[in-house]
Amino acid sequence: PERTLVLVKPDGVARGLVGEVISRLEAKGLRLVAAELRTLTRDVAEEHYGEHRERPFFGSLVDFITGGPLLALVVEGPRAVEAFRALAGATDPVTAAPGTIRGDLGLEVQENIVHGSDSPESAAREIGLFFPGLG
Ligand code: GTP
Ligand code: MG
Repeated sequence: PERTLVLVKPDGVARGLVGEVISRLEAKGLRLVAAELRTLTRDVAEEHYGEHRERPFFGSLVDFITGGPLLALVVEGPRAVEAFRALAGATDPVTAAPGTIRGDLGLEVQENIVHGSDSPESAAREIGLFFPGLG
């Protein structure tokens, strides 16, 4: 089955939403393969979000994502990448559909609770970055 990298971002961990996120993805039928609570170094954060390096919010995004512990998960299931992106909802929680994680639980575009890889190629790269021992 396909795998994807999910992060419960530092805002989600600080707000006590880890259980809620895991409940939703497990209820959907996705399965946990790996899980680790950790605080990212700036190097890893900049690598993870490298596609956004030229964006005006890049510095702020790196500050935020390194600002406290996050929960990194590898999740698997049929079309896991697309399945989790659908559960997460649109990037901006204000316009994310109700029923999605962001749509139900967030209000800020940066502090938007979760990350999910955006393609199988991104998932392979991100899983390699977070869990180099996973094969
Ligand atoms: P990820 O799963 O975290 O990659 O979110 P995404 O794929 O829905 O959005 P994208 O990759 O475009 O942006 C990455 C992250 O940067 C978002 O999830 C937000 O945390 C943050 N972000 C995106 N747009 C903005 C913005 O306009 N301002 C700020 N401050 N942060 C943003
Ligand atoms: Mg993205």
